[in-house]
Amino acid sequence: MSNTYLCTAIPYVNGNPHIGHAMDYLLADVYARYCRERGDDVRFQVGTDEHGNKVFSTAEKNHIPVMEYATENSQKFRDFIEQLDISYTDFIRTTDEDHVRRCQAIWERLSPHIYSADYDGWYCEGCESFVTQKEYDEHSGCCPDHQRPYIKLTEKNYYLRIADFKAELRTNIENDTLQILPEFRKQEMLRLLEDTPDISISRPRKQLSWGVPVPGDDSQVMYVWIDALSNYITVLGYPDQDISQWWPASAQFVGKDILRFHAITWPAILLGLGLPLPRRIISHGHVLADGQKMSKSIGNVVDPMAVLARHGLEAFRYYFLRHIDTFTDSDFTWDKFDQAYTQELANDLGNLVQRLATLCHKNDVHPVAGSPDLSDPNYTELMTSFHFSKAFDCVWSKIQALNREIDSSKPWELAKRGETEQAQQVLCDLAQKLLDVSVLLRPFLPDTARKIQDIFTADDIIVPATPLFPKP
Ligand code: MSP
Repeated sequence: MSNTYLCTAIPYVNGNPHIGHAMDYLLADVYARYCRERGDDVRFQVGTDEHGNKVFSTAEKNHIPVMEYATENSQKFRDFIEQLDISYTDFIRTTDEDHVRRCQAIWERLSPHIYSADYDGWYCEGCESFVTQKEYDEHSGCCPDHQRPYIKLTEKNYYLRIADFKAELRTNIENDTLQILPEFRKQEMLRLLEDTPDISISRPRKQLSWGVPVPGDDSQVMYVWIDALSNYITVLGYPDQDISQWWPASAQFVGKDILRFHAITWPAILLGLGLPLPRRIISHGHVLADGQKMSKSIGNVVDPMAVLARHGLEAFRYYFLRHIDTFTDSDFTWDKFDQAYTQELANDLGNLVQRLATLCHKNDVHPVAGSPDLSDPNYTELMTSFHFSKAFDCVWSKIQALNREIDSSKPWELAKRGETEQAQQVLCDLAQKLLDVSVLLRPFLPDTARKIQDIFTADDIIVPATPLFPKP
């Protein structure tokens, strides 16, 4: 049995979860479930990023003490993760005492690569990130993600000497020791690495009061990214405990907007600590609302609770795992969501299950559950290369093929003509194939896969009183 450790980005707690936040969790969950089917022992981290000015100022605006505010919102993310049936094993908050203490120990271990200097340059308050002159010029002084002008900063900071790690980092990315997926993002990161200056890792306390104090310098607080990135190993107990059973992570799942922190800052920290790099970073695209970036100011943020309420959890998982491409930006619209529910879940799958169960019941058919077969080479190739939406397409094409097969073999006509044995054989074969497909479906729609298994492996096949996906 091999150990697999999976990590997801930890969201800021300055607001409610939105549908985009679901992507890290869902992608990691599909892989976690797939690995467990393969027999791996899986550890799966999720959590919340609670320090920094964004969280502090939103709490202030809401007149709530910041810790209370962070706790309230952290719980909302935890509830959301539960509602999505994410099979995580560890939930970390960056305000956890253990995390804070371990984070300070990490800083101390990195001290040979840390120096202090004055920063004089640009900063994006939305990204909580420093901006190079080149980026400033490219974006004409305004952050494309937050539509906010960059601000000028002059202050003392501690820096991580990225120059100490650049050559090693480049080699590790180029030769896929640290694999960055998709390939075009890897090339983007290699280009970015070239221009990356040393990285600021602290801010004066008067600019950033809500954070982890820098050990040995009370006037400085750790800049949120070093605090946040450390969570992936502090949750395993580093440096108090030996983490080699789980680290390096098999895969880290992050959105494209924060890939550079994971592909450059994070591996530099790990090299500085003498720890191995994660095996791969999967960078997913963004969920757009009707072709546009979701934003509070445009007013087009889609509430995940409304999506869950519309057609239930399985439909939520279905849409975001199949119709949101794993690596590029894709659109959510209510129309597309409703259409996918009716035409695909209700018609393709729900009807197939209902029809086949009815025919098996009428003809006294008893399929035998085969052993789980994950060996479809196309599916395996797509799952192990993290092309989950394409792997899901592959499962769906098998469902559609079964619909065609039931139509062309017409077992009801065989039964009508009294060819009972042939009818039973055809139905048994179809049910067997559906059971096989349900195994491939498990990582994506675990509850639906379980229901299909329950229906077709029962001693007597009972037709479900309500179809799996009732039409609205
Ligand atoms: N706190 C940092 C991450 C620190 S990880 C050590 C952060 N938080 S976030 O709340 O802004 O984003 C959390 C995750 O959600 C990121 O992976 C981000 O890319 C993802 N998404 C945020 N909006 C998204 C969409 N519209 N679509 C898909 N993913 C999106 O960044």
